[in-house]
Amino acid sequence: MTVADLPKIELHLHHEGAAPPAFIKQLAHEKNVDLSKVFTPDGGYAFENFVHFLSVYEAASSVLTGPEEFARLTTAILEESAANGVVYTESFISPDFCGGGDLGAWREYLLAIQEAAAAAEAKHGITLRGVVTAVRHFGPEKSRLSSHCAAETAGTFVTGFGMGGDEAHLTQGAFSYAFDQAREAGLQLTTHAGEVLGPQSVWDAIDDLKVERIGHGVRAIEDPDLVKELVERGVTLEVCPGSNVVLDVYPDFASHPISKLRDAGVKVTVSTDDPPFFHTNMRREYEELEKAFGWDEEDFRALNATALDAAFCDAETKKTVA
Ligand code: ADE
Ligand code: ZN
Repeated sequence: MTVADLPKIELHLHHEGAAPPAFIKQLAHEKNVDLSKVFTPDGGYAFENFVHFLSVYEAASSVLTGPEEFARLTTAILEESAANGVVYTESFISPDFCGGGDLGAWREYLLAIQEAAAAAEAKHGITLRGVVTAVRHFGPEKSRLSSHCAAETAGTFVTGFGMGGDEAHLTQGAFSYAFDQAREAGLQLTTHAGEVLGPQSVWDAIDDLKVERIGHGVRAIEDPDLVKELVERGVTLEVCPGSNVVLDVYPDFASHPISKLRDAGVKVTVSTDDPPFFHTNMRREYEELEKAFGWDEEDFRALNATALDAAFCDAETKKTVA
């Protein structure tokens, strides 16, 4: 057995960002939408940098237009994740792409996703939980609608609230209403920070939004006091090394700070972010980390234990997954 064969816990996966390019291409064809600029000649997603990535992501997501399509997408994602040894995954699902923030429509999308997830769990033994997600550059008003949808559907499946999108758009604190509303509904919280921007964005995430987890957070390494604070507060980082390499946050796996952060006592976990965009999957992430840092089975088992501990599901689900 290699480390890549281990059962894996993934905490940071964007639902639309996990859509296979062929799946999106087929929908675009059926709907007569010209997405030729979205794809590379060899059938991958085409983008030049982070901001361009976000616009390609949105163009691809625009052809996903109903609950049935999200159900099919969920089936495809979970089949692929299970094939890579993932036994538990949390995905970011955004009301902005599922009904535009309308609660009635959101409930329909959610039901379709949950039904597909239940079928995938029965077939492949993979468990999915949903983290309802605001898109930062869509602004604070839309984030409130998203967190309202999250709060109204909080339960066994919807267990968290988060925010992705353009980290350079406004401050974390501009979104505090949405995060407070989600926290009051009993949801656990995460936000993207320290991916595109430096340590201040991570400080803002923990001070102004009071999140339990941070999406990426890796640029915290630039501030030793922040690293200490993350350790003291027990904040978990959802680290996506392959994504960071493709988006030029770091030149390669060997230069990635995940190992230093872990050795400093920060709770680090490993995820894929948007696997087809970044030509990755959980097996590959493990293989590259093994190559770059010499991590062995014990290291990866510890990593998974940290991830399960930080998962936003209930204790009963954690017991089933472990
Ligand atoms: N949305 C999807 N992937 C993202 C990323 N890596 N950063 C911010 N927003 C995202
Ligand atoms: Zn992300």
